[in-house]
Amino acid sequence: MAQLAHDPNACADGRTTLELGAVLPKTAEVHENHLFVGGVDMAELARSQGTALYVMDVAHIKQQLRAYKDALGSNARVAFAGKAFLNKAMVRLLKEEGCSLDVSGGGELAIALAAGFDAAQIVVHGNNKTETELSEAIQANVGLIVVDCFEELGRIERIAATHNRTQRILLRLRPGIVADTHEFIRTGAEDSKFGFGISNGRALTAARVALAAEHLQLVGIHVHIGSQIFDISSYAETIEVLAEFAATLKTEIGFTLEVLDVGGGLGSAYTVADELTAIKELGDLLTSHTKACFEQHKLPQPALMVEPGRSIVATAGVTLYTVGAIKDIYDVRCYVAIDGGMTDNIRTALYGAQYEAVIANKAAERREALVTLAGKHCESGDVVAIDASLQTPEIGDIVAVFGTGAYNATMSSNYNAQVRPAVVFVEDGTETVVQRRETYEDLMARDI
Ligand code: LLP
Repeated sequence: MAQLAHDPNACADGRTTLELGAVLPKTAEVHENHLFVGGVDMAELARSQGTALYVMDVAHIKQQLRAYKDALGSNARVAFAGKAFLNKAMVRLLKEEGCSLDVSGGGELAIALAAGFDAAQIVVHGNNKTETELSEAIQANVGLIVVDCFEELGRIERIAATHNRTQRILLRLRPGIVADTHEFIRTGAEDSKFGFGISNGRALTAARVALAAEHLQLVGIHVHIGSQIFDISSYAETIEVLAEFAATLKTEIGFTLEVLDVGGGLGSAYTVADELTAIKELGDLLTSHTKACFEQHKLPQPALMVEPGRSIVATAGVTLYTVGAIKDIYDVRCYVAIDGGMTDNIRTALYGAQYEAVIANKAAERREALVTLAGKHCESGDVVAIDASLQTPEIGDIVAVFGTGAYNATMSSNYNAQVRPAVVFVEDGTETVVQRRETYEDLMARDI
């Protein structure tokens, strides 16, 4: 495994928890050597709830959602991307905050509807939505379906006709922008499985087809250029391409764009080296650039829509583990084995993601050990953090890994028949288990 190669120059950074800056959830505090999040003692929570455990800082999530709303203004819509983190409690929180929700597939839609989310505020995504998923969405009266291909235009028209409905749609476009991020999570480039190409004329043809269809109401266009983006100039470029396309839509087929959905993608800090772009900065760029570009083409201003996932929840999340074994291999590395791993966090194995970690019961101490946090699963690639700084570990310590609120729970698995962790919301000194730990019975629930 190339990613496990030992860096002989790596050394511990000597930082204490509170010196980890933007990696920390907003309510992180240290009292008497213990890490607190949302006013709750993480070491005690780990002991009372068991580990591995996903913890979410509710105040952090609320602040991020509000930052998007404030930055974009009242005419814009913030649709949280459910793929980053979704359960009924999160859906209820989004409802309280007056946000919309982007769902990908029938399962996410089912969770949203079961938690009482207003279907009109739901945006349905996917590059190959099944007939069943489309029927479910249309019958639920979802606000928008983002159409990814010609086949879907036909399917939605047919299903909407059957139910005597007119479905509002956006067209997903491929703007030909190569965002500065990992290639697995880059989606706006010309070579992408997503959306209609602009440069090859498919997007314009799709708009013509949509406008001619009796049960489709085309309201706008959508792009999502990628995820974990730090250099936001890609968004400016994207808006330029989209405004030009909007002008083409106007002149060629007389269509005026109502909604411009620019997707998600803003990066989060996973390590102290990551330099964050503020939500406000992205919001300012999106609003001012859209205004300028649409004015330049003499087009009316569209309503902006964004679909942030990671930047809402990643830093809100902390995963707690218990140290069960320590293997210090002289001149190679020190493995600290935790009671979770690639089943609750696949991102390190999949993308070479990096994380910062501390010992929750030694939070005020300096991180003087250099360790590799190894999972408990049967693969050498099952690691959560490689060459990471940590306070000197001992068996029974509680390790807190930061930045694990996005794409961890939603990408978790039952490999090795591991039960998935519980999810606990913490806020103002109160802990609420919003999703219980799986049981062995859950593992066998589908067996016949
Ligand atoms: N909208 C659409 C259509 C998307 O496909 C995505 C993410 C988002 C919004 C939200 O993007 P965000 O704001 O979270 O960057 N599993 C990967 C990330 C995959 C992102 C997929 N699409 C990871 O763990 O890094």
